[in-house]
Amino acid sequence: MTPAQPSAPWWQSAVVYQIYPWSFQDSNGDGIGDLPGIISRLDYLNGSADSLGVDAIWLSPIYPSPMHDFGYDVKDYCDIDPRFGTLADFDRLTLEAHRRGIRVVMDLVLNHTSNEHPWFIESRSSRTSAKRDWYYWADGKSGRRPPNNWAARFGGSAWTLDRHTGQYYLHSFLPEQPDLNWTNPAVREAVFDVVRFWLDRGVDGFRLDAINWLGKETSWPDNPRRLAWRSYYRQVHRYDRDQPHTHEALRALRASLKDRADIFLVGETSSDTPGGPAVFYGDGSNELHEVFDFRLLRSDWRPEVFRRLITDSDRAVPQGGWPPVVFSNHDQSRHIDRYGAGGDPIRRARAAALLLFTLRGTPFVYYGEEVGLRDGRLRRSDLRDPYTIRYWPWKAGRDPARTPMPWDDSPQGGFTSGTPWLPLSQDWRLTNVAREQHDPSSMLSLYKRLIRLKKHSQALTLGAYHPIDEGPKECLLFTREFREADKRQRLLIAVNFSAQPHRISVSVASLAPATTGTLILSTDPQRVEEDWNADQFHLGPDEGIVVSLQ
Ligand code: NOJ
Repeated sequence: MTPAQPSAPWWQSAVVYQIYPWSFQDSNGDGIGDLPGIISRLDYLNGSADSLGVDAIWLSPIYPSPMHDFGYDVKDYCDIDPRFGTLADFDRLTLEAHRRGIRVVMDLVLNHTSNEHPWFIESRSSRTSAKRDWYYWADGKSGRRPPNNWAARFGGSAWTLDRHTGQYYLHSFLPEQPDLNWTNPAVREAVFDVVRFWLDRGVDGFRLDAINWLGKETSWPDNPRRLAWRSYYRQVHRYDRDQPHTHEALRALRASLKDRADIFLVGETSSDTPGGPAVFYGDGSNELHEVFDFRLLRSDWRPEVFRRLITDSDRAVPQGGWPPVVFSNHDQSRHIDRYGAGGDPIRRARAAALLLFTLRGTPFVYYGEEVGLRDGRLRRSDLRDPYTIRYWPWKAGRDPARTPMPWDDSPQGGFTSGTPWLPLSQDWRLTNVAREQHDPSSMLSLYKRLIRLKKHSQALTLGAYHPIDEGPKECLLFTREFREADKRQRLLIAVNFSAQPHRISVSVASLAPATTGTLILSTDPQRVEEDWNADQFHLGPDEGIVVSLQ
C-alpha cells in the first residue's frame, strides 16, 4: 500500500476497481453475488504476481434494501443486506482485502433513503412526528397539484402525495427514495454516525452518491422551463440541486474527518452542474478529494472531444484535489460498446485502456472491463432494473452493463452454481478470466501491464499532463512529466482514434530537449519494444503507445 511518493495521499497513485456486488461472484448458488464470493476472488485482484494489481475496491451498495434501485435505496445504513451476507462477512472481507494491499471504499447514499427506512416510516407517520423534518414535506397547490414543477431524475414529478398525512414528500429519484432534509442538523449528525460506524470497521473511503443533490432551495420555487424531449431536461435545474448548502454539508463532512487524512472521499455529481463537477473540490482542501467528471464517459470516441475534455477537466481540478479517470460504471452502457460503435470495439477498448492508465488521475476500472466484457444482449423478460421497466419500457436501460462477471467457460461462467439473476453476456465463453489470464495478447494482460507500468512510473502516477497540439487530427498526443530535485522522468503517449494508420512527426519545440526514446508499450500485441524518434514514427489503426523519452 505504499504510495509512489510517501507524502502523496494513497489514492493519487491507486487504481480503484468497482465491484457491482450483485454480479461479481456468487458463493451460495442463489444466483446473486455476495461478500464471501468477493472474498474468494480477492487473489485475482491483488496479492500475487498473477493478480490484476488494483489498490482499492469500491463496493456499490450492500446495505439492506428493498432494491427498488438495486441498493441505492438504503433501509439500514449500518448492516449488510442478507442477500450479500452479514457484518461478520464484511469484517472478513475488509481484513482479507487489507492483507492483500486492497483498500475498501463504501458507496454512501446520502441524498435519500429507502421509503422503508425506519426514519422515513417514522417521518410519514404523522405531521407531528419527531422525525417529520428529517425529510422534505410540503403542502400541494390547490387542485391536488404538487408544491412545484420539479421533475424526478428518473421520470415523473419529484413529489408524491402521502394520503395518510395529506402532504407531499420530495424524491429526486424514485418515489421509493425520499430525499433527506440536509438542513436539519439531526440528519447530519445521524449520517456522520454512519460514517463513524464504517470507519470503526476499517473502511478506507466513501463514494458519495448523487452528491450535488444534497442542497435544495426550500422555499420551493418552480424551476425555469426549457425545450427538451425528456421530462427531466424540460427544466433548468436551478433550485432542486447544486445549492450552496451542499458545499456546507461537504465541508462539515470533510472537517469531521480531519484526524483521518487517510480516508478517501470521491463524489458523484451531474456533468451539467454549474461550474462543472470541479466545484465540489471546494478550495482543494475542504470538500471532496476527487469528483467524477462523466463528460468523457458520455462522449463518443472522437479525438477532438477527448482532447478538449481531458485538458478542460485536468485544468479544472484545484491544487490539493485529484482527478478520477472513469470510462464505465453501473449506470451506462460499457465503454467497449459505446466507444466501439462504428469501429473495432476491441482495438478501441485497448486504446481506451491505455488512456485510462496514462491520463493524470486515479483510474476507476468497472468489473469486467479488464477482460473486455460487452454489454449483455438481454431480452425484455430478462430486465430487472425497476427504473427502466417503469419509466423506459422500450429501452434496455442499465441492466446490460450489470451482467455477471465471466470467470471461466464452465456453465454460468463460474459466477454461480445456480441461475444467475441476470444472464451472462453473450460472448462469455470467449471473453473470460481463465481464458485471458495467461494469454499475453489478451485484454486482461494489457490491463495488468498498464497497471504495473503506472505503479512503477512516477510520471504516470504523479506527473503533470501536457497536451501536444501537433500531429494528425485523428491522433491524441500528450506527455506526462515528473520532476523532483535533479530527477526528471518523461513519457510520451500517442493514441490513434482512427482505423487508418498514421505517420507522425513531432517538432523539437514540443518535446525539447528529448526527441528520441524507447517505445515501451503498445496496444498492438504484435509490436514489441523499439527505438523511437520524434521525426518519424507510426501508429497503427486504433493503436496507442507509451514512449519513454530520453
Ligand atoms: C447514482 C447511482 O450511480 C445510480 O445507480 C442511482 O440509481 C442514483 N445515483 C440514485 O441513487
